Amino acid sequence: MTQKDSGFDAFFQAITTSPEFKDAVTKDWKWDSLASLESSLEEMQSWVDKAANIMKNFDSTFNTPEAQSAINPPKTGNPQDEQAPSIIEVQRFEKKEWKPWGFEAVAGMDVLKDELQDSFIKPIRFKFLIERLKKQSPDMESTPEEKKKHELLLKLYSEYEKFKISIPTGMLFYGPPWTGKTFITKKLAEELGCGFVAKNMGEFGSSYLHQTTKNIKDFFTATKKAAEKEPIILFLDEIDSLVSARTDRVDANKAEEISQFLQEFNALETAPNLIVIAATNRPDHLDPAILRSGRLDKKIYLGPPDEIARRELFKMYIEKSGRPHEALDYDELSHLTEWYVSADIETMCDEVARDASRNLLELLDEAENGSLTDTDLSGHTITMDSLRKTIIETPSSLKMVDMSIYESWLEKVK
Ligand SMILES: Nc1ncnc2c1ncn2[C@@H]1O[C@H](COP(=O)(O)OP(=O)(O)OP(=O)(O)O)[C@@H](O)[C@H]1O
Ligand SMILES: [Mg+2]
Repeated sequence: MTQKDSGFDAFFQAITTSPEFKDAVTKDWKWDSLASLESSLEEMQSWVDKAANIMKNFDSTFNTPEAQSAINPPKTGNPQDEQAPSIIEVQRFEKKEWKPWGFEAVAGMDVLKDELQDSFIKPIRFKFLIERLKKQSPDMESTPEEKKKHELLLKLYSEYEKFKISIPTGMLFYGPPWTGKTFITKKLAEELGCGFVAKNMGEFGSSYLHQTTKNIKDFFTATKKAAEKEPIILFLDEIDSLVSARTDRVDANKAEEISQFLQEFNALETAPNLIVIAATNRPDHLDPAILRSGRLDKKIYLGPPDEIARRELFKMYIEKSGRPHEALDYDELSHLTEWYVSADIETMCDEVARDASRNLLELLDEAENGSLTDTDLSGHTITMDSLRKTIIETPSSLKMVDMSIYESWLEKVK
């Protein structure tokens, strides 16, 4: 027998000391057969231990959510060490003179910007304006001109309303990483001049039983409450991480979380001032229920920038941001960066700017001792050569991305 005090040992002990066993052994068994039984049972135990170890390694290697919850089962009790994330942060973007505002900051994507302007921004702005006017008491209007203006606006709105145009209050941005899903949502909030609440869906997770479900409920309650005071864009990033069809999980906790999310999501109909924008890199992992929910009416693909957009991105991050540069061939730069994403181009422009400015730091002593000349200051510019070199050295972020995920995804789910 091993010294290990396992359940197996107790079982073995109970069997071998039982009167029935002793009786059987003394009658028909030989002591050497008992010894061989003991060694066989021990061998069996060692194989059981080995199998358990293999299963454990298998689970952690494959790292599935099921494996994780088996290794770290949900805790019961009160999650005292976890702060209930019911307090939401409503961001309000501040307009700064030197910084492009709203869609001005978005290079390219002209078709998308126009579409959003017509079907989303203009009607929503109008709706928000009218709601604000309706909330105002007539006494608050100081001058007869203002009163007249409000009357006309309300009249115009009632004419517009007759056409029963439904405004989409939800959108899904999908596409490869770093193509600007988060960026454009923030710029949209700037365009609309509304509050912005961002939530990464992974943040709802808790290791406490039922706490994730409660987090979801609290979050939506708080967001809806905030939207009673002002129009809000609710940005649900990485929506696939909660509402995922990837694993076909039958796990009851996960099912409860998804069901709570869908319940809250559908109940957003009662929050007219809340616009929901969800984003994902993995549309193929989304639970079909979220797509059927009706809240994400519009599904918009954000892909790598086209030729025109790439040209504009270089211009935006070099010329328009005032970085010193020699005459640049934007057509060539655009040509060299096919299949690069917006964030790649931004990063490469930062890189060449840093390189071009590096030698200026060496001139600190000269500036301090007064010997700095105009000649010293000249020639520190971004050049075509430095850009070409950086582009060659920097692989596109899409290199590792399986683009087939996005091809005809929308057609498949329609
Ligand atoms: N159209 C654009 N014009 C100007 N800059 C852009 C544009 N699109 C993206 N960028 C720049 O690229 C950066 C990365 O974009 P962003 O983080 O929005 O990508 P994402 O699609 O949300 O990525 P992820 O899938 O990883 O969440 C932005 O911070 C922004 O500076
Ligand atoms: Mg993002």
